Amino acid sequence: MTDKEAILERHSVRLYESKRIEAEKCEKIRNKIDELNTEGNLHLQFVEDAGKAFNSLFTMMAGLKSAPSVVVCAGPASDDLEEKVGYYGEKLVLFLQQLGLNTCWVGSSNKNVEGAENAPGEKTVLVIALGYGKTPGKARKSKTAAEVTQARADRPGWFDKGVEMALLAPTAINQQHFIIRLNDDDTVEFIDKGGPFSKVDLGIVKCHFEIGAGKEVK
Ligand SMILES: Cc1cc2nc3c(=O)[nH]c(=O)nc-3n(C[C@H](O)[C@H](O)[C@H](O)COP(=O)(O)O)c2cc1C
Repeated sequence: MTDKEAILERHSVRLYESKRIEAEKCEKIRNKIDELNTEGNLHLQFVEDAGKAFNSLFTMMAGLKSAPSVVVCAGPASDDLEEKVGYYGEKLVLFLQQLGLNTCWVGSSNKNVEGAENAPGEKTVLVIALGYGKTPGKARKSKTAAEVTQARADRPGWFDKGVEMALLAPTAINQQHFIIRLNDDDTVEFIDKGGPFSKVDLGIVKCHFEIGAGKEVK
């Protein structure tokens, strides 16, 4: 499955089978997390069996009914921590989709997950729930490309392809509160219009845009 196919298949899933994730897949997840932590200077932490923390954790999560595992998204406190969590966390979400797993970003959760521990100076931003969904989730309403872009009429094709994937990015409460602007010199700006977790959203949107456009825009 390509990254684009993973984007097309991914939807938030809030109810999971009680099935544990196989050891072989756990190993792949840990390796991917190591890679992303190094690249992004983050401390994403995989808690495979949310165990005892599971019930107390998930009953506190708005809207989530269950999930066997979580990834705690943390890193050294910095101005761009939230955006980096979004960008690298979504790379992980798409990787998990490719492994046949389902996910949901969860902002409204208890951040003290048993089995995860931050180093001094690190901050937990939010968690990603994951596991085998009872259903694959479903498509939701989206803004149009015109509503989230500022670009000239004769813009290059890669820009529209990037926007198409960006519109499929998960955002907190489906707010899609961002603007993607194409400058005259063909550089791209991502503008945060505010709202809960909008900086995380912006990182997720960037990740999707780059996959659609076929190039990095940082
Ligand atoms: C930063 C962030 C925080 C989120 N927090 C929650 C949450 O606390 N509870 C929940 O049920 N869904 C949460 N979601 C999932 C969004 O509601 C969901 O991504 C959005 O409605 C779009 O649907 P989709 O993911 O199926 O495309 C969150 C998503 C993001 C990106």
